[in-house]
Amino acid sequence: MKGIILAAGRGTRLYPMTRPVCKPLLPVYDKPMIYYPLSVLIQAGIREVLVIVPPGEEGTFYTLLRDGMQLGMNIHYTVQPVARGIADALLIGREFLDGDDVCLVLGDNIFWAESFDATLKDAVCHNQGATVFGCRVNDPRPFGVVEFDRSGKAISIEEKPARPKSNYIVPGLYIYDAEALNIAENLKPSARGELEITDVNLTYLRQGRLQVIPLEDNYVWMDAGNADSLLTAAQTIRSLQQDGSYVGCIEELVYKEGWISPAKLRKLGEELCMTDYGKHILELCEEPG
Ligand code: G1P
Repeated sequence: MKGIILAAGRGTRLYPMTRPVCKPLLPVYDKPMIYYPLSVLIQAGIREVLVIVPPGEEGTFYTLLRDGMQLGMNIHYTVQPVARGIADALLIGREFLDGDDVCLVLGDNIFWAESFDATLKDAVCHNQGATVFGCRVNDPRPFGVVEFDRSGKAISIEEKPARPKSNYIVPGLYIYDAEALNIAENLKPSARGELEITDVNLTYLRQGRLQVIPLEDNYVWMDAGNADSLLTAAQTIRSLQQDGSYVGCIEELVYKEGWISPAKLRKLGEELCMTDYGKHILELCEEPG
């Protein structure tokens, strides 16, 4: 399975902050936003990643993440020329995917849970068609909303409904088999002119090949699309980390996956040793292996 991060949003709802720096590179507490979706792919065990960025931004993203070799990964970059919707990421990633299954994550979605790596690896391993997640929120109207029947089976998904049928939304994390590309190819743009990922999910639902995993207890999901949600996300990350749960530390996660050696981890920590983030990495080097 390969990973795609759709990080092509300029972030107009965050102007003027995102005039010089695009949204996925903004800080969320102590690290750039894109570290969080990248950490999701790492926890899913995915080492081959395509990052889709706004036009002209390949260089800025490369400065941050390079080719991924330092993390024991392969990171590629390409642009989304026009904001045509989330499902467009599958079409843009066609050559990169080369017939593989895909885990697609949005560049502004942040997930944390105690054993999220096990949840993700399980989802990737058992995916038959499509697997998405369900998160309970107070106001589901701005999202894709999933409705379950009494047995817990997903029976409908609606994009930004005026009258949501449940409080469960589908966050920006999608696991698909190779069929997703054919589905995306046949989509018609929605009223807002986008290739909707909800339409891809609906196709799988109608085929009886969509699994929706509700994230029930002890998980955090946030999207950091405006000034309020960006601040809330930063505060939540800070308090999780103060309580001892480091979120989105890609160096730590690749080390735990066994993709880099202790010596390489130390080198990455030393490059950042002037920060608490770097000190956290260096502390991991002291722990008995
Ligand atoms: C998009 C999807 C929506 C999903 C949300 C998660 O919304 O269309 O289904 O629930 O991401 O962040 P958008 O960012 O396009 O408003």
